[in-house]
Amino acid sequence: MTISTGVIGVFDSGVGGLSVLQHIRQTLPHERLIYVADSGHVPYGDKSPAFIETRSLAIARFLIGQGADAIVIACNTATAAAAHTLRVKFNKIPIVAMEPAVKPAIAVTQSRVVGVLATVGTLESARFAALLEKYGGWKVKIETQGCPGLVEQVERGELHSARTRELIERYTAPLLRKGADTLILGCTHYPFLAPLIREVVGENIALIDTGAAVARHLMYRMKAELPPRGDGEGSEEFFTSGNAEDASRIMSMLWGKEVVAQQLPQAYL
Ligand code: DGL
Repeated sequence: MTISTGVIGVFDSGVGGLSVLQHIRQTLPHERLIYVADSGHVPYGDKSPAFIETRSLAIARFLIGQGADAIVIACNTATAAAAHTLRVKFNKIPIVAMEPAVKPAIAVTQSRVVGVLATVGTLESARFAALLEKYGGWKVKIETQGCPGLVEQVERGELHSARTRELIERYTAPLLRKGADTLILGCTHYPFLAPLIREVVGENIALIDTGAAVARHLMYRMKAELPPRGDGEGSEEFFTSGNAEDASRIMSMLWGKEVVAQQLPQAYL
């Protein structure tokens, strides 16, 4: 039996996708994982879809060059802008993408009002409009809130600062006022802020994150579509399009172990 030597490639605009990588590590302990943070271009939330698509294509090419036979777009904003193109261009490998978890939130809400915290890029995308349309008949109000500045706070490692708290208060208050009892963390950076969001909104508000579901979905797709994998020790490698020292510092803090991030080769910057 041939055992695959493929690796799983995961990317995000920055360090937020590490919240997804944590779930992938737990779900698939034997896999080799390569993570790319496009820190040189973060945030994606205020960039044009065309720019994000170009960056996503370059990073996917890099990951495939490194041996990736499955790719996870660990970024809601990049999914909205580029998932379709990536799936057309690289149609031989599973490409797992992510979008705000509207369906699970609808299953949880009692007040029938769900709030979505996400980047402006995600909320303004055609893909998100289609998602809302899909659940339009479920008699649940979906209220959205763009959160400029929040991604940058996570990139700086400010998970508990006064400034971060102020932004969270500003962005959650309108949703709570409208009666939301369930908040979707619609950007992969936000799970790192979940403890602070919890402090701000209190115990009675459900926070919905999709990292675990994405990791499970990846596992099913790999089982269905790829040759069997080995059961050796898993590993992780980290790359950044930004400053490698800065990335190593912040990634080590969020990953909970020392990370030495490497600079992406010039052709992919
Ligand atoms: N982690 C990205 C997401 O899930 C953040 C996008 C950004 O860089 O603005 O949307």
